[in-house]
Amino acid sequence: MIAKRHKDYQEKLDHYQQSHLLAFWDELDKKRRTQLLDDLDQVDFDRCQPLIDTFVRKRPVFKLPERLEPPVTFPATPGPEQYDRYQIAKEVGAAAIRAGKVAAFTVAGGQGTRLGYDGPKGAFDISPVRSACLFQLFAEQLRGTERRYGHRPRWYIMTSPANHEVTQEIFARNNYFGLADEDVIFFPQGQMPAFLPDGKIALAQKYRLALGPDGHGGSLRALATSGALDDMCERGIEHISYFQVDNPLVRAIDPLFIGLHIETESEMSSKAVTKADDLERVGNFCLADDKLTVIEYSDLPEKLAHEKNADGTRRFDAGSIAVHVLACSFVERLTAAGATVQLPWHRADKKLTVVDAAGNVQTPTEPNVVKLETFIFDAIPPAKNPLVLYTPRQEEFSPVKNAEGIDSAVTARRDLLLRAARWLESCGCEVPRNTDGLPDLPLEISPAFALDIDDLHERLVAPPELKPGQALVLT
Ligand code: UD1
Repeated sequence: MIAKRHKDYQEKLDHYQQSHLLAFWDELDKKRRTQLLDDLDQVDFDRCQPLIDTFVRKRPVFKLPERLEPPVTFPATPGPEQYDRYQIAKEVGAAAIRAGKVAAFTVAGGQGTRLGYDGPKGAFDISPVRSACLFQLFAEQLRGTERRYGHRPRWYIMTSPANHEVTQEIFARNNYFGLADEDVIFFPQGQMPAFLPDGKIALAQKYRLALGPDGHGGSLRALATSGALDDMCERGIEHISYFQVDNPLVRAIDPLFIGLHIETESEMSSKAVTKADDLERVGNFCLADDKLTVIEYSDLPEKLAHEKNADGTRRFDAGSIAVHVLACSFVERLTAAGATVQLPWHRADKKLTVVDAAGNVQTPTEPNVVKLETFIFDAIPPAKNPLVLYTPRQEEFSPVKNAEGIDSAVTARRDLLLRAARWLESCGCEVPRNTDGLPDLPLEISPAFALDIDDLHERLVAPPELKPGQALVLT
């Protein structure tokens, strides 16, 4: 069996000029040979071949669209002329949730290298008092959604082959964070190899290919190939509420957002925040040659990023928080056999320890490999009626990306604490604050207890009395 697979790959790799991947075959024991063949099975050589010339051997230059303008957006708070529209949207969204037409979808296949956490990022402890991990906070939101709308959305989680099993183990060990195991569906995303600059696939070890996840854009394909999309259709799910694993403040299921998406017959909707500064490292919503598009911070020329309107506000101000609602029919359209829309590939030059042709381990000090990924937001331009809804940053966005500094666990915990304090104050509580303006007590509201300010208003019989230093945890 192994001999046959080996022979087949010898021919195949010759054809694709990747025979070096079997160079150490004779040195490998049976287990490692099998591992190497299994890694080879993960590579779609036909898919990679044309990319090697365009993206690896050549360095593609990002071409700015000819006409770049700010997008038309829905404001976070409606003006008088939009008030009714927002009210209707909230009801439409709530009805869709109640009717089981909305699923939650978390992309959790990333490698989380910047955070330096050894494990799936979703298991990272983040809440300020209970130390609940990201997965737990999302699960509690789904439980809160069930309490409020009478239906608990099904939760699809995209992992990567590297963290698939351990992610499932974490859920099993934690009793699915209070959810039913059959309501949480895990599936791994596809992989892409890392390439050396000459187009050869890199070896991480003599018997291991350097493989990595193919980007969150790969979630569309993975939804289709894993059967998750079919599962959604069978259950009457029509809308996918997409969010990243790294944002503990995210509103996993938002009736207003879902309702606007439905009402405008949008195929893909997105949430934005006002950028914290001109060069914040978020994607920028733009109208690129009249098409709604996200341009990554790294691709937006600084001159444009600094541009101001006549009233002094920032011209390109809508930062992407990577929260979307996608119509299932749209995902089907994009992933159907023979689909004409292909998400574009993005090149990233990375440092990776590799085994060289002589079998020596090389640990680079400069980027030595090329990784290729697709991005979910590249599905926006081909979507019909895509919309952007602004949302208040302090309510919904504080990602955990870095080990320290901005967008770290410290800032996310602070923002969870501040949000809980604001909600309680709006319900009439007096929250003691220290000289830095931070609540002077450990404070946490589980999303299972209250999903937002309105929910908290309904849930609190009387505003609790808060004392400095005395913890309040609402669960
Ligand atoms: C991303 C967006 C940026 C947005 C910001 C908001 C990109 C290129 N940029 O930045 O526009 O403003 O979030 O926080 O995405 N993931 C997978 N599989 C992969 C790669 C990533 O599931 O193959 C998941 C990660 O687990 C994570 C999310 O996608 O949940 C974000 O990935 P990351 O690479 O950290 O994106 P950012 O560069 O932080």
